[in-house]
Amino acid sequence: MRNIVAGNWKSNKLMNEAQDFTDAFLMHLNDMNGTTEVVIAPPAPFLGQLAQSKGKRLTWAAQQCSAHGAGAFTGEFTAEMIHSAGAGAVLIGHSERREFFGETDDVVRMKVEQAVNAGLEVFLCCGESLEQRESGKPETVVCAQLEHAVAGLDSAEGLVVAYEPIWAIGTGRTATAEQAQAMHAAIRSWWSNRFSKAAAAALPILYGGSCKPSNAAELFSQPDVNGGLIGGASLQVADFLELVRISDELAQGE
Ligand code: PGA
Repeated sequence: MRNIVAGNWKSNKLMNEAQDFTDAFLMHLNDMNGTTEVVIAPPAPFLGQLAQSKGKRLTWAAQQCSAHGAGAFTGEFTAEMIHSAGAGAVLIGHSERREFFGETDDVVRMKVEQAVNAGLEVFLCCGESLEQRESGKPETVVCAQLEHAVAGLDSAEGLVVAYEPIWAIGTGRTATAEQAQAMHAAIRSWWSNRFSKAAAAALPILYGGSCKPSNAAELFSQPDVNGGLIGGASLQVADFLELVRISDELAQGE
């Protein structure tokens, strides 16, 4: 099984800070031995430059992409553009996109299709609100999000799922390892019905939401948790490296 630690920088850092982070991070990463795949999603204006910095297990990603192809869509950047700038992946459906930028399930579906067609790996984000969790059926909410998002696809090739409970993002409040495991198992089982047993067994499912060095080992060691999508703790070189190290160590013991 693949293990992935992905950083989502959101709207943080300036170009020089992003380059400094990359130089320091890669110097250490290239000295480490491990099998965890590392992904960084910087702000889009930095992608073309940063993607010239190569790490042996590093993939650059965008934080979103256009729901459309090339054409008269001022301000949008297409999945193909992201690919041509040197990125290999894109986050789609992050709860901040859904909440602040009006991304509906339909828009998420269109973006997923654009990204898959452009050859980008898709980190499909899903997660329930606190209200939805307290209503007692968070798995139903999350699987319905996934169902919409993959409605146009015949194959699960090139998809990674990131489960990020909205109440845990940037709040310092993490899902317990039991809550994360239960949701990840539900996602894998849904995936098996929707695609195939083999696709479900191969699907990396990442946890996101206030994941940091102090709680990562417990979360990453759950059987259906294959790494993390990290916001705040991906902004500091030491923290992000430590998360990769924790994942490497657990993978070695698998
Ligand atoms: P956080 O963000 O780690 O700062 O909670 C995670 C995310 O939104 O991807």
